[in-house]
Amino acid sequence: MYILAPSLLGADFSRLEPMIRATSEAGAQYLHLDVMDGAFVPSISFGMPLIASIRKCSDQIFDVHMMVQEPGRYVADMKKAGADLICVHQEACIHLDRTISQIREAGAMAGVALNPATPISTLDCVLDQVDMVLLMSVNPGFGGQKFIPYTLEKIRCLKKTLTKRGLKTHIQVDGGVTLENAGELFEAGADILVAGSAVFKGDPAANTRAFLELFARYEAGRP
Ligand code: DX5
Ligand code: ZN
Repeated sequence: MYILAPSLLGADFSRLEPMIRATSEAGAQYLHLDVMDGAFVPSISFGMPLIASIRKCSDQIFDVHMMVQEPGRYVADMKKAGADLICVHQEACIHLDRTISQIREAGAMAGVALNPATPISTLDCVLDQVDMVLLMSVNPGFGGQKFIPYTLEKIRCLKKTLTKRGLKTHIQVDGGVTLENAGELFEAGADILVAGSAVFKGDPAANTRAFLELFARYEAGRP
């Protein structure tokens, strides 16, 4: 099954509740929440207080993408704020194995993210401990950037590795995802697509529906 994770970073922050409801009522099961600390990435976005507030207006899976140095420091509080899935960057964790255990102990699903230039092989030792691998298809920190084409080959390579090892780990792709490139991302092996600008620019409900219709066609084998 293919999953759409609208990224709230692309939304109008003065109208968060209607924006979130539009995606959820149109059928998006996930909401992607980009937490940035101004150190791991240049920008600062939002954190636990905002996530705890919006938890009241959505029962979507809260998929928290931590673009934060040493995110283990915040795992327990992030779970308390309402995160269902906590995804940390391999590049931001000195003790990645420990951070993944912290996420599991907190009772959340665990994800690990890789920047475009970080090889898949850096996850060999932990692949069987995570529910999801996030492959960044732009350099993290900002919405509205262009998809980096070489990351397509990383999706294929990760999919091959997972199949070889008999793992059902999800592959999430984040950055520059559009209705136009979604198909090739599925064909490469992705099953969760994050979309910020492509969902929230214009009409978020109509954009969500357009993605989900496309997903249904791919699921039915009729792209
Ligand atoms: C970027 C964030 C993304 C961002 C995607 O660092 O991780 O989730 O919101 O935005 P678009 O879909 O506009 O590239
Ligand atoms: Zn993200």
